[in-house]
Amino acid sequence: MKKGQMLYEGKGKRLYKTDNDDLLIAEFKDDLTAFNAQKKGSEEGKGALNNKISTQLFRLLEQNGIKTHLIDVLSDTQQLVKKVQIIPLEVVVRNIATGSLSKRLGITEGEILPFTLVELYYKNDDLGDPLVNDEHCLIMNLVKTEKDLQVLRHLGREINSILFKFFETKGLKLVDFKVEFGIDRDGNIVLADEISPDSCRFWDAKTNEKLDKDRFRQGLGNVKVAYEEILRRILS
Ligand code: TMP
Ligand code: ASP
Repeated sequence: MKKGQMLYEGKGKRLYKTDNDDLLIAEFKDDLTAFNAQKKGSEEGKGALNNKISTQLFRLLEQNGIKTHLIDVLSDTQQLVKKVQIIPLEVVVRNIATGSLSKRLGITEGEILPFTLVELYYKNDDLGDPLVNDEHCLIMNLVKTEKDLQVLRHLGREINSILFKFFETKGLKLVDFKVEFGIDRDGNIVLADEISPDSCRFWDAKTNEKLDKDRFRQGLGNVKVAYEEILRRILS
């Protein structure tokens, strides 16, 4: 598949056109950013690790009935994906309180939530990706109908239940994660973007050691070592 013109460059990936109008090439970057890109860094090989991790997880989800944009792996850092129209919402799913949830509401870090929490954030860097409710989404036409919001929440919970159980068998707690969805040519809502240690929190089940991008956000070091450990456990 020939890589054409670059369509978009985000913080973690670049998207390129191909000679097929329905397909794009997604290229994973080594760059790391946090706090709306106020903190910047890079880890050689991080893009390749995220490509492998996300591919494994998307395939697992596909096997469990979740439609995704992933078609094929092209190289260490590149995937062939279905072209979709990204819904400008970050769907955040939480099992354990930490991060912005603890900060905003004062819920103790590490507290297991009584049920899985799904939150929606408006993808807009200038506004700092604010938390939004259903009415905000409908007023701003971020989705077409209320039903779409129910579908997004349902898919978030389904993905959580598949991944949570999977990571449990790998000695990892899936603390929380962010997913993004797009609409394909036939109007289906499909999982897009990536699922990687950039977009999830993983804690070791025994030690609670953080094995995700929080190592970068909090300056804990050994970022790449942690991502390698996640891939190793997924493949084990
Ligand atoms: P938060 O606690 O900072 O709101 O993050 C919740 C989850 O979402 C966590 O797993 C990290 C992920 N996330 C992203 O993937 N991108 C983002 O821009 C933010 C803020 C969080
Ligand atoms: N991805 C976001 C940024 O680049 C925030 C984060 O993940 O902490 O700023």
